[in-house]
Amino acid sequence: SSYLSVILALPLAFAHYHDGHGSPSHWKPPGPGDFRGPCPMMNTLANHGFLPHDGKNLTEKTVVQALKSALNFNTSLGSLMFEMAIVANPEPNATFFTLDHLNRHNVLEHDASLSRSDAYFGNNHIFNRTIFDETRAYWTDPILTPNMLANSKLARQINSRASNPQYTFTSKTEAFSIGEVSAPIVAFGNMDSGLVNRTLVEYFFENERLPTDLGWKKKQEVISLDDIVKLSQMITQATSLLTAKEGLVVRNRDLHAGFSF
Ligand code: HEM
Ligand code: MG
Repeated sequence: SSYLSVILALPLAFAHYHDGHGSPSHWKPPGPGDFRGPCPMMNTLANHGFLPHDGKNLTEKTVVQALKSALNFNTSLGSLMFEMAIVANPEPNATFFTLDHLNRHNVLEHDASLSRSDAYFGNNHIFNRTIFDETRAYWTDPILTPNMLANSKLARQINSRASNPQYTFTSKTEAFSIGEVSAPIVAFGNMDSGLVNRTLVEYFFENERLPTDLGWKKKQEVISLDDIVKLSQMITQATSLLTAKEGLVVRNRDLHAGFSF
């Protein structure tokens, strides 16, 4: 009878492993019926089994646990990200979302993505080589700087605004966009310098896989909202087209001076 219970428990153990108990070494691409979305990291976590492989039923508990075990995010940061994401599910008072929900245009998904086409031109959530090459044109050194990341964001916005008659980018989009541009540093780079190895970032975007085979390891330090805020400030600075780091506020007096010639 103990033999029988072992046999019975085996498939259960496996189901468990593939459902939220992921690992950096285990990786399986999505199959038919699996949901994926516009977020390369959420897709990656599903491919590794940190999130359910089918991309469905992403509850707060599941998301918090996935961000913790894959990337060392603390609980409050994970919860906050879940709370910001839950609007993706069109049901009122929803307790979960799916990776497919994230595709809803201008809810969380937005124009001028680094690796996806604008919804106006077609698929807004699958990796797009042409778009990613536009982005990578600004990643001009094996070590990416905040300026290079910021340049790629600005370039995508200009190309998008110039070609997409339905181009939309609100101040809310800007806040998310800054977070997304910082994200490769959070996952794979140095939070103090803002530097990140280009090879790791490209491998991640192109394969939707953690770059473990390239020697990457999960950060030892726990990541908190404070860290994300500091990094966002660094990237916001880098996104300013002013050369001197005077900050983002153009003084009123200077604006008037522009008309005084
Ligand atoms: C983009 C959702 C966590 C990295 C996106 C987008 C959504 C999204 C909807 C698409 C925005 C667009 O149109 O470009 C989420 C949710 C998360 C989450 C719901 C967790 C609750 C993360 C984490 C990282 C990450 C932890 C990495 C540390 C990125 C990157 C992009 C992105 C790099 C930009 C992709 C591009 O511009 O092509 N995310 N995300 N995300 N996300 Fe996430
Ligand atoms: Mg997009």
